[in-house]
Amino acid sequence: TKLYKIANIPGDGIGKEVLPEGVKVLDKVGGLYGFSLDYTDLPWSCEYYVQTGSMMPENGIDILSKHDAIFLGAVGFPGVPDHVSLWGLLLPIRRQFDQYVNLRPIKLMPGMNTPLAKPGKIDFLIVRENTEGEYSDQGMILAEGTDEETVIQHSVFTRKGVDRLLKYGFELAQTREKKLDWATKSNGIYIAMPYWDGRAALMSKNYPDVATAQYHIDILSAHFVRDPARFDVVVASNLMGDILSDLGAACTGTIGVAPSANLNPEGKFPSMFEPVHGSAPDIYGQNIANPIGQIWSGAMMLEHLGEVEAAGAIMRAIEFVLSDETAPRTADMGGTATTQEMGDEVMARLS
Ligand code: NAD
Ligand code: IPM
Ligand code: MN
Repeated sequence: TKLYKIANIPGDGIGKEVLPEGVKVLDKVGGLYGFSLDYTDLPWSCEYYVQTGSMMPENGIDILSKHDAIFLGAVGFPGVPDHVSLWGLLLPIRRQFDQYVNLRPIKLMPGMNTPLAKPGKIDFLIVRENTEGEYSDQGMILAEGTDEETVIQHSVFTRKGVDRLLKYGFELAQTREKKLDWATKSNGIYIAMPYWDGRAALMSKNYPDVATAQYHIDILSAHFVRDPARFDVVVASNLMGDILSDLGAACTGTIGVAPSANLNPEGKFPSMFEPVHGSAPDIYGQNIANPIGQIWSGAMMLEHLGEVEAAGAIMRAIEFVLSDETAPRTADMGGTATTQEMGDEVMARLS
């Protein structure tokens, strides 16, 4: 039977509660579809940082590179500054493995309560740039401690970085409704964002069958709430895509169900799969975190590994659970179920 080597990084907070739910669903579906998963459990986290002084060992990237994929919970917890934990673990993985596409499906599942008055059909993909842009390590503090104190943090967009993301977005759009929208803010950020617009317009010439529109990020956010049915593939920079993905997820009911794939599309390095949400320190330890975002991320991982049927089976089980009003629901969906009860329910409906 086929064997996939998976690096598990539960990380912090509810990452440690939801990751096991993802793993148990993956194992069951593997049994049903004739493959198995060999996990390496890695304790890299804020606790690990407190013990060792770093978020992962020096050869951490090397260890990960020997795996077919990375399955991650969440990183960051009070006690360790967020920029230390994130720039010590999550962001270096995305960068070192050139996971330049952060693919984040936004889908209103049957049975979910949305806060939107007129949701229509919500089913689109955010294609978020994941290795450069506003998340940059270039900057400085000038005249520190004086009245002239000035803080600068550059956004860095490379032609290669912008073009490869756009190319991915257009090729994806060709497999769907042939419609691509992109987010910029070229009225205000007048060097970098018109550059994006120019590259997108140029790239679109290679895909004459794909209809495109540019939106400024402010009105795009409004459309997410007022008329999300218009979207199919939405391409955005690192920060804009980050904000849009929590907004989009909230429009579909709860960020607890939203999945993501950090992809190295060329397959030169392992890709990483994790829920969109963070470590949720406010609910950690109560065993009420929604595991669906993690489980759905597991389905994206299987699809990436080529186990398309097994991925589909997980998705059907998730839809089955969410659309059944009598099924257990975690607190973010208005219920009282525990994390395990929700995971068990997905397990029970796998076939
Ligand atoms: P968060 O996503 O952790 O939590 C935001 C809110 O959503 C909280 O009220 C939380 O209880 C709720 N929530 C999140 N996931 C849920 C789930 N599965 N079920 C039910 N409710 C859920 O965002 P935050 O509070 O801004 O960040 C907390 C920490 O997580 C910070 O250290 C942050 O840097 C980190 N973070 C990490 C990632 C990641 O690892 N990819 C993503 C976002 C935030
Ligand atoms: C996410 C998170 C991360 C990001 C943070 C924790 C650095 O918010 O995965 O959405 O902004 O990419
Ligand atoms: Mn985020």
